[in-house]
Amino acid sequence: MGKVHNFSSGPSILPRQAMEAGSRACLEFNGMGMSILEISHRSKEFVAVMDEAIKLVKEILSVPAGYSVAFLQGGASLQFAMIPYNLLDDGETAAYLETGMWANKAIKEAKLFGNVKILASSKEANYTFIPKTYDIPKDARYFHVTSNNTIYGTQLQTFPDSPVPLIADMSSDIFSRPVDVSKFGMIYAGAQKNMGIAGTTLVIIKDELLGKVKRKIPSMLDYKIHIENESMYNTPPVFPVYMAMETLRWVKQQGGVLAMQKKNEQKAARLYQEIDENLMFKGTCAVEDRSKMNVTFVMAKPELENDFNKAAEAAGLSGLKGHRSVGGFRASIYNAMDIDAIDALVALMKTFANK
Ligand SMILES: Cc1ncc(COP(=O)(O)O)c(C=O)c1O
Repeated sequence: MGKVHNFSSGPSILPRQAMEAGSRACLEFNGMGMSILEISHRSKEFVAVMDEAIKLVKEILSVPAGYSVAFLQGGASLQFAMIPYNLLDDGETAAYLETGMWANKAIKEAKLFGNVKILASSKEANYTFIPKTYDIPKDARYFHVTSNNTIYGTQLQTFPDSPVPLIADMSSDIFSRPVDVSKFGMIYAGAQKNMGIAGTTLVIIKDELLGKVKRKIPSMLDYKIHIENESMYNTPPVFPVYMAMETLRWVKQQGGVLAMQKKNEQKAARLYQEIDENLMFKGTCAVEDRSKMNVTFVMAKPELENDFNKAAEAAGLSGLKGHRSVGGFRASIYNAMDIDAIDALVALMKTFANK
């Protein structure tokens, strides 16, 4: 089979080097004569993996003192509930920005534990833009945003200055650009886009936020317990953590988040330029809010979308079909994707226009 360019939204393309290391580790890890899948998570070999993964997160994102890093389970979706469970008491209010389906799901969970104030929403416009005018109430316990809206193809280009702890779901753009962690009370992300494979969720949280709510927290839902136990309160998802470590090693070798940002900007610019110039296609989002990770577009003649999709599959461009709530196409162009994949897609768009 010829080269397949993987535009899937997640699980998604990973660095080849991380996958090769992962395959080797599945057969034999560290010269131990055993697979990483069959050794104790308490072994010094696996503890070294967890330690390095956490160290790389801190190093790559320049996480300041006073923050803890943990690898948890349950996906980013469990964080939607764990955040209010740990940080929002009954009767207190949390503020949310409603910019898409994932934000909406986070809001739904928070309502189970306290009051939710939606500061602004683009729901009426099918989430095609990021609302920018709102006041963050000073008495809110925190303000939650989704930094990149995987389904709708919008992204916060800057983060608001918040008088209350800012919490960001960075599931689909973590490690794609530098972020000033000190601006945040918490950052979290499912691993399966820019950080490896499904099965673990990264949490970076400011220590001073913890231990404040009055309710009792079951151990597995308590950030403090996971942090005190260095993400080993129970058996951690050993292989997803290993893959996160390998993916982060790759990010670091490539030059870190600054290098990722440069490459991602170049890829996104090339694709958006074609979308804007080619009369057969049009973007779905406000130009200033366009995501550099998930590029959403439709065809000027929707009846041709099926044909384009078939042509894309035949040309080895996989995973381009848009989410059902947006339609059209979505090219997910995460860190591990090289510019040649964008060139292949742009070439197909051009041939299609010339037909
Ligand atoms: C922005 C965002 N948040 C949350 C999620 C849910 O993540 P998980 O499936 O790990 O629970 C996703 C999944 O694609 C996402 O893109």
